[in-house]
Amino acid sequence: MANITVFKHPLIQHKLSILRDINTGSKDFRELTREISTLMAYEVTRDLQLEEIEIETPLQRTKGYALSGKKLGLIPILRAGLGMVDGMLSILPAAKVGHIGLYRDPNTLSPVEYYCKLPHDIAERDIFVLDPMLATGGSASAAIQFLKNRGCKNIKLVNIIAAPEGVEVIKKDHPDVDIFIAGLDEKLNEKGYILPGLGDAGDRLFGTK
Ligand code: PRP
Ligand code: URA
Repeated sequence: MANITVFKHPLIQHKLSILRDINTGSKDFRELTREISTLMAYEVTRDLQLEEIEIETPLQRTKGYALSGKKLGLIPILRAGLGMVDGMLSILPAAKVGHIGLYRDPNTLSPVEYYCKLPHDIAERDIFVLDPMLATGGSASAAIQFLKNRGCKNIKLVNIIAAPEGVEVIKKDHPDVDIFIAGLDEKLNEKGYILPGLGDAGDRLFGTK
């Protein structure tokens, strides 16, 4: 069964509250999304494999460690997932980035695919799917299925805010996918927005409303 981890770190919680605030403009919203993503990257990579290596300090030889597991793939769901990429890449610079374009049909709330460009060796990588918002779960579930159809096996989902409804959908559709979030909110409203949430993440990131 999928594990869900809510990051309670004080820095993440502090920044998340400013992110939610209606008075936070796009410049700060982007900056906070980037910072929260960097902090989340630190947490979601806790179980990466290490191997022992020999290194030489200016004084003597000693043992050290190097990452030794599979290479990583970051998959932002367009558009809002883009806001999480730079923060993650700042501490995972060797990760490759693939893009999946999905938008929610405003009437049915179902995801509609409009773009996909993935690294050629995506099936060999450990994957982090990035999207600030997990609402009905439709977009994330579709993106994960898309990646599984291309051979990806080890997939983690990283969201900033999730609704319980979305978490249940991922648990049901993808019990093998662990979910990492900064805030687990109360519910969805009748238009599929997360309450209390932060509004429309894509619009707030890019200033489109
Ligand atoms: C938002 C968000 C997720 C999706 C979540 O994207 O970034 O991708 O909604 O909703 P769901 O869990 O109900 O599928 P949106 O469709 O608004 O597109 P955008 O990122 O281009 O603004
Ligand atoms: N997408 C968003 O950007 N915000 C929500 O609250 C739900 C879906």
